[in-house]
Amino acid sequence: MAEIGGTAKLPPSGDKHSEGSERLWVVFVTAVIVLLVAMVVYTSVHWGFHPPSQVETIDSTSLHKGGEFSEANLGTVIAPDGSAVVHVVAQQYAFIPNCLVVPAGKPVTFRLASADVVHGFIVDGTNVNAMVVPGYVTTVHTTFQEPGERLMPCHEFCGVGHQAMWAHVRIVEASRFPTDADKQKAVNCAS
Ligand code: CUA
Repeated sequence: MAEIGGTAKLPPSGDKHSEGSERLWVVFVTAVIVLLVAMVVYTSVHWGFHPPSQVETIDSTSLHKGGEFSEANLGTVIAPDGSAVVHVVAQQYAFIPNCLVVPAGKPVTFRLASADVVHGFIVDGTNVNAMVVPGYVTTVHTTFQEPGERLMPCHEFCGVGHQAMWAHVRIVEASRFPTDADKQKAVNCAS
């Protein structure tokens, strides 16, 4: 091998100095691995992050034809115990409905399906963050403690109109929802 720019001297093998450096690397790499594992444990336990735990498939081409994601079912329905189920369709370039209304302090289950390509589902300032992949139902459970209004932008690039694709989540006092489950139809901010 040609020598470039002077004489590089390698330490002889078994040198005390290089052994010390290797030991230092082992300690450093082990520390990095321990740190990364600790971060995974901390975020999953403390922030409630977890990988998708259930896989549910759906025919994305026929959402509008009936069933769970037909137009009349999109929006929020309140169960007798006060918990909410919210059905949302994501499509180029809008969420339907584009303003979701949910009760504060009650368990909320979001169920989303895409009618075309991959979209992103994130609720600003919360740990709600998931992909909406065509062919699958995205289910996210959460509870919003405080009333207020939050942004819900699509955060997966889905085409030329991606940056204009976003919705709102309006969190209201649970007492503002009807408690009689029999009379209920799915509601949104405009209801
Ligand atoms: Cu939908 Cu980006």
